[in-house]
Amino acid sequence: MLNDIDARRLRDFLELKTGIFIDDEKLRKIYKRKYEEFMQKNGFDNFYALYSQLVHGKDSKLLQEFINLSTVNETYFFREAYQFDTLVEEVLPKLHQIRPLDESINILAAPSSSGEELYSIAIYIMEKIPQIFAKRDFVLVGIDIDSSMIKKAKEGLYTKRSIAKLPSHILLKYFKQKGNLFEIDKQLRDGLTFKVVNVLDFYAMKRLGKFDVIFSRNMLIYFDEKTKQKILATFHALLKPQGYLFLGHAEKVPFDMKIFRRVKIGKSILYQKVENVS
Ligand SMILES: C[S@@+](CC[C@H](N)C(=O)[O-])C[C@H]1O[C@@H](n2cnc3c(N)ncnc32)[C@H](O)[C@@H]1O
Repeated sequence: MLNDIDARRLRDFLELKTGIFIDDEKLRKIYKRKYEEFMQKNGFDNFYALYSQLVHGKDSKLLQEFINLSTVNETYFFREAYQFDTLVEEVLPKLHQIRPLDESINILAAPSSSGEELYSIAIYIMEKIPQIFAKRDFVLVGIDIDSSMIKKAKEGLYTKRSIAKLPSHILLKYFKQKGNLFEIDKQLRDGLTFKVVNVLDFYAMKRLGKFDVIFSRNMLIYFDEKTKQKILATFHALLKPQGYLFLGHAEKVPFDMKIFRRVKIGKSILYQKVENVS
């Protein structure tokens, strides 16, 4: 139904819109079939009808569905928890000291996928630094391009697999079991903001405001070098002075990008915003 050339056209269009690059092998083995099913489900019997709807059409729902089916959303609570330790033991106490007390500390998870990472950060703050949490407002925002993940994050209902790394006292304190699923505490859910935003959309990103800390873990690995640098420049613009960027363990700011200073704090490597780069 979909030949290799047309499958590649869809793949290239996806990369242009989202930054996500799918290599030829994955395209052949996984995505070609997904795209065929997508065409069938949406009543397209030829590639060109679909492609022109995606590229020129006004059907943003179709485009959103196409994007949702192309993303990799793997995440879970307390993933690579040593970074959360660094956040609450070192980074937030430091920022708490240097920021005026009437200013909130703002944290962005970009991408948040279905919310586990941002909820983990909230739990770490409440559990590990209650003395700072009592004195200071925190604003926690999660964004993702995949609308089905943002819906899930807002619902706050998680599978056993998602919560597997949580200590039992945390599970008991912050979750209610509902059949096979675990529902996160409503108060916690209401305290966080989740939005559908494409990190490539600079103006939508800027509208989110300024942040003290940005977590961007396990997304940049899907992007080519040029796109990655563009997004890192966006993060730099969104960070407040002396703000910090956490990346996934397989991700790095390129050595020649001087807008960030690489620092080792606790067990984590992270990146601090550099002002006035000449
Ligand atoms: C593997 S998940 C990472 C989730 C979480 N940060 C973690 O490490 O557990 C990658 C997420 O990146 C999102 N993503 C991919 N391209 C994006 C883009 N251009 N803008 C925003 N989110 C994007 C995907 O939808 C997916 O949910």
